[in-house]
Amino acid sequence: MSECVIGILASGRGSNMKALLAACASGEIPARVAVVLSDKEQAGALATARAQGVDAVWLNPKDHGTREAYDRALVAELRARGVTLVCLAGYMKLVSKAFIEPFQNRILNIHPSLLPSFPGLNAQQQALDYGVKLAGCTVHLVELAMDAGPIVMQTAVPVEDNDTGDTLSARVLEQEHRLYVAAVKAFAEGRVTVDGRRVSVRP
Ligand code: GAR
Repeated sequence: MSECVIGILASGRGSNMKALLAACASGEIPARVAVVLSDKEQAGALATARAQGVDAVWLNPKDHGTREAYDRALVAELRARGVTLVCLAGYMKLVSKAFIEPFQNRILNIHPSLLPSFPGLNAQQQALDYGVKLAGCTVHLVELAMDAGPIVMQTAVPVEDNDTGDTLSARVLEQEHRLYVAAVKAFAEGRVTVDGRRVSVRP
């Protein structure tokens, strides 16, 4: 099987990125992270990646006129490093066709809800406000619509009566780190088959 080379995109603090870096470094995921890219110069993810000796690049959206032009620049950075699997980890910018087409079925995203419920921002608070008893997180393949695309894996997290947005988010985040590592490991080990919207993962 060909080597799995990961590119991570992150806009924020980068705790999911950190979980992926650790799992690649320990050999739990048989892959290497070639680059971390961000649209935010101050993203904690960039600083953390650099501190771990990982190539980390800020691409300023203002340097590229359109979303497509920006996405082409991202793709060029990923291709230059031979990336075969892209992981969005708290990357909060919508992606265009220019980004998705070159990496068909090779872009993953993690979202802090049981999709298709509660896409978008503040998913955990949306779940609380709705009154669900089970919140959770989802790893899915990325397509044009936001927080959509075939579901690879999900974990449910029970909502407690005294939960706040913060307490629920913290418990969901813990599960996100485990779920993302499990999903990326499955891709890196070639155990994933995609058939339309149905994704199967061999044990
Ligand atoms: C995570 O909770 C991730 O699921 C969410 O952003 C957070 C990033 O945290 N992503 C989305 O909401 C995508 N729609 P992190 O920077 O610590 O990984």
